[in-house]
Amino acid sequence: MTQFISVIGYPLKHSVSPDFQQAALDHYKLDIRYEAREIKAADLLSAINQLRQPQNLGANITVPYKKAVLPLIDEVDDFAGLVGAVNTIVNRDGKLVGFNTDAYGFLRALRDDARFKPENKRAIVLGAGGAARAVGFALLQERISSLTIANRTMAKAVSLASSLANHAVNNKISTEIAAVPWQSSKLTEAVENCQLIVNCTSLGMKGSPYEEESPLVSDLIPKDALVYDLVYNPLETPLLRIAREAGANTIGGLPMLVYQGAASFELWTDREAPLDIMLPAARQALTKIGG
Ligand code: ATR
Repeated sequence: MTQFISVIGYPLKHSVSPDFQQAALDHYKLDIRYEAREIKAADLLSAINQLRQPQNLGANITVPYKKAVLPLIDEVDDFAGLVGAVNTIVNRDGKLVGFNTDAYGFLRALRDDARFKPENKRAIVLGAGGAARAVGFALLQERISSLTIANRTMAKAVSLASSLANHAVNNKISTEIAAVPWQSSKLTEAVENCQLIVNCTSLGMKGSPYEEESPLVSDLIPKDALVYDLVYNPLETPLLRIAREAGANTIGGLPMLVYQGAASFELWTDREAPLDIMLPAARQALTKIGG
């Protein structure tokens, strides 16, 4: 019996997950198809319920449903619950269990590709959506010394900062956490004194209305900082370009995308993710769609 895994989101035309996940499944000659399913909000519940059928191994969940699926599944693992976002669902005999592998992907790329150690460093997180939440908790877990959140909608930055601060207190983590207004002098000051800047907004993303935009201007970016853009299409976003020109180190979102997918692959198949197959397949798919 052919089995299925899907990625559920809306819209989905730029997803490269089907390409690199299918390449990994084919590498092991598994009779499993990985399919993109563009689902409208009104059909989300029935799409999730279908995942309980025995031929379905599970799904990746992407924008805009990472939060919305929490009440629709049977169990949420601790870290996904903490982040409040699920990007992976596993069908365990009709019971749907949710995980969040974004933080794992983020930290693995930070460690293995950017060679950056967060302990005792100061970081800025731009954005306060699902991706920013995963990044914030990941950095806290790695004992970053200070974390400043800036977001266009200030209330969301404040709310993320307060969840992070509660978690820090409950777990005896001494990270200093602050929310600052978007494009403010407080943000400028924090940027000037940081070692890591992570863009978790969609600014610079191909196909968005903001694809030419960068969340920061070049003269703000410290030369010795690492600038990490979660956007993976294009491979070099406007932010990464100005950061490179300013002399900073940079990393784009592609390694994180593949590592989070690799962790999902291992949850569905119990096999080691073949990264040497997945990374080039993701790169090739991006080139095909003009990344
Ligand atoms: P994800 O799951 O990828 O985090 P999201 O939850 O929709 O997606 O979050 C998108 C992030 O990009 C938010 O922080 C959003 O800011 P708001 O909370 O103010 O909406 C940010 N964002 C999107 N468009 C933006 C823009 N034009 N300028 C600044 N920030 C933007």
